[in-house]
Amino acid sequence: MFPQHIIARKRDGHALNRDEIAAFVHGATDGSWADYQLSAMLMAIFLRGMTPQETAHYTEAMMNSGIVADLSSVKLPKADKHSTGGVGDKVSLHLAPMVAACGVAVPMISGRGLGHTGGTLDKLESIPGFRVGLSLAEYRAELEQIGVSLIGQTAELAPADKKLYALRDVTGTVECIPLICGSILSKKLAEGIDVLVLDVKFGRGAFMKDRTKARELAQALVAVATAMGKPTRAVLTAMEEPLGRAVGNALEVAESIDCLKGRGPVDTMEVTYALGEQMLLLTKTATTTAEARARLEASVASGAAAAKFRELIAAQGGDVCVVDEPARLPQARFKVPLASPRAGLITDVDAMGVALAALRLGAGRAKAEDRVDHAVGVSALVKMGERIAPGAPMCVIHANDESALAAAQAMLAQAITVGDAALVAPKLIDEVIGV
Ligand code: URA
Repeated sequence: MFPQHIIARKRDGHALNRDEIAAFVHGATDGSWADYQLSAMLMAIFLRGMTPQETAHYTEAMMNSGIVADLSSVKLPKADKHSTGGVGDKVSLHLAPMVAACGVAVPMISGRGLGHTGGTLDKLESIPGFRVGLSLAEYRAELEQIGVSLIGQTAELAPADKKLYALRDVTGTVECIPLICGSILSKKLAEGIDVLVLDVKFGRGAFMKDRTKARELAQALVAVATAMGKPTRAVLTAMEEPLGRAVGNALEVAESIDCLKGRGPVDTMEVTYALGEQMLLLTKTATTTAEARARLEASVASGAAAAKFRELIAAQGGDVCVVDEPARLPQARFKVPLASPRAGLITDVDAMGVALAALRLGAGRAKAEDRVDHAVGVSALVKMGERIAPGAPMCVIHANDESALAAAQAMLAQAITVGDAALVAPKLIDEVIGV
């Protein structure tokens, strides 16, 4: 099978068979297809699409391009959660120990932040000493011992995705549902999980801006993963304003610790419980949503979830004391409140505007090789619908250099609107797909 013949068949709108798709994915993994052939194929798929059957073959080939972790030695049911990414989305950090405290193992392999969205690994690395670069053997041992592990992508898992994602990024072929399905699911299904819960976000701060498109993606992800034998549900959630009140790595870890201690922001806990409920239901650890919710709430109230987070930090070499003394997390040189220009109601907090201000402060990466500053970002952020007095703080800016601080002040003043009109807050949990 010559690459040019397979590319031409897709170019002409034919559905490819399993062998043709496998040849393309092998070509990406072993370098036998040139970058220009891989790129041409990606564009042909982008323009012509893939049938559900092709998408399933593609996802399977991507997953099998590397190792599929064998977690049969972990006796608990195994569930993971994946988010398509948002602003202030720190849910994985506290959800994983909460669910593990309810008797479900959580093998979670996460990514780094790129562009306007943060990454779980960067957040975890703001805990002094925390190691995300565990081997698969260490990952398995940690799951056997404490039922949770949060690590970074290893070279053995879905290597074809690394190659193809880098090409998609520079060839205008990222926003393509079959390619996104193959990319996300190949990595998640290689983790060794039994079930998967997806948080598919839509809105200004999300990767998919449009709800209809996000819903289409959620349906495709659920259909492909379920067909591959992994019961999967997706929760469609709104991402118009940042989740919670903190954006920035260490600041988000501190907010996650608040969530574990029962004082997390209402919106963050709403999303956390919605996802956790589905993890308990799919693993049959609870039989009703109410029972699942009660178990998750009890894990917080009893201190079991916070204790599990301490175990996780200790197992991965981090400073456990941060759970009780968050001031041990990296601190910025400047902590400056941003005053409200007038009295009124917070009528808008633009997630993208806040994310770009955090990026300017150094909390994220514009390019993959950039270093992140763990200390900087925004805390005590107001939420839409709240009333504010003139001069009262709309947020606190954490900065390490004065010019970034000045730029972030201007950007945040644009992103947050104080008005008079009462507004209907967007519904945060929009729909559960796959029930
Ligand atoms: N996230 C991924 O991992 N892959 C995609 O294709 C899009 C988002």
